Amino acid sequence: FFSAVEMAPRDPILGLNEQFNADTNPAKVNLGVGVYFDANGKLPLLQCVQAAEKTMSQDPKARGYLPIDGIAAYDAGVKALVFGEGSEPITSGRVATVQAIGGTGGLKLGADFLKKLNPSAKVLISDPSWENHRALFTNAGFTVESYRYFNQAANGGKGGVDFDGMLADLKAAAPGTVAVLHACCHNPTGYDISPAQWDQVVAVVKAKGLVPFLDMAYQGFGYGLKEDGAVIAQFVAAGLTFFVSTSFSKSFSLYGERVGALSVLCESKEEADRVLSQLKIVIRTNYSNPPTHGGAVVAAVLSNPTLRAQWEQELGEMRVRIKAMRQKLVDGLKAAGVQQDMSFITTQIGMFSYSGLSKDQMVRLRNEFGVYGTDTGRMCVAALNEKNIDYVCASIAKVI
Ligand code: LMR
Repeated sequence: FFSAVEMAPRDPILGLNEQFNADTNPAKVNLGVGVYFDANGKLPLLQCVQAAEKTMSQDPKARGYLPIDGIAAYDAGVKALVFGEGSEPITSGRVATVQAIGGTGGLKLGADFLKKLNPSAKVLISDPSWENHRALFTNAGFTVESYRYFNQAANGGKGGVDFDGMLADLKAAAPGTVAVLHACCHNPTGYDISPAQWDQVVAVVKAKGLVPFLDMAYQGFGYGLKEDGAVIAQFVAAGLTFFVSTSFSKSFSLYGERVGALSVLCESKEEADRVLSQLKIVIRTNYSNPPTHGGAVVAAVLSNPTLRAQWEQELGEMRVRIKAMRQKLVDGLKAAGVQQDMSFITTQIGMFSYSGLSKDQMVRLRNEFGVYGTDTGRMCVAALNEKNIDYVCASIAKVI
């Protein structure tokens, strides 16, 4: 029965973890997956999370099924983060939000719902994009194409966004095309567009009748929670309806709890109620209803002013440390003898640096030095620290 089953390739991101774990090089460094490690190279367990879990353990609760759309306080917390506390989309009741199995789960719920709604629509993702966008939307049954985004020749060869190309490709898309956009901290490039450029994107999306799907997996890792979420208000102001996927994997360091969400902004509360009813069918027929613990922790933190303030402080510390490591990487590469100007690394934002290294160089880094990044040249700056940075810089210098 299984004789015709072919061996699938390793996942381009999570597959690196498998390879990394099997690597016996004691100096190995994992800059592959987008995970934040602290200054000591440890995966943090945030203080706000520990405090919430302590309170929860003092009043242990039985684990019944959650509602299909998840914990109400969690969904409310997501809405407030995405659209802004007390904003019109929330007060008018026209946002349908469901708890999802991580940001990936939020994307897949949206993709499955969209496929039912408009089966012949195409999906456009950025070139390049998060490696899983193409696979996820393809597996949901869509034809996935891309719009221009990164151009190595931009900024005098240092690389940057090909904004004219992006706009032209969006303009050329057929009405109803789903445009997957990175709300902040573009993965993998680390190059975002400016608010003024977003205005132009919003105008094209509106004029061409595209369906915006904003992936907001890194809210808080760019300039701050509000700043990174500001693009949402631009879409709202244009009177658009759209999808937003949220992830708390990185911002709460709760990767394994799979805490994410999907929000759909509709035209009215009545429309949002209908959309929610359909999303619940997608959930029910996939995994029935979401798990409890991670959602309960996030809801507890978001709804308690003290814990919420603590979370924002801890998130801010992660953001600041990543920025500091960007500068150290630039300085370290120079000190290690890299001739070319690598200062573009400090103009990138979020967890990643698109280093400009080729696939061959990335494979050499991995095989000869145990330094893991994706084949596309993406490195997770959030996994650098004072102890591993010199080794990483020296290794990169040797393959450049
Ligand atoms: C990444 O891009 O490395 C993260 O979003 C983790 C993942 O699921 O791929």
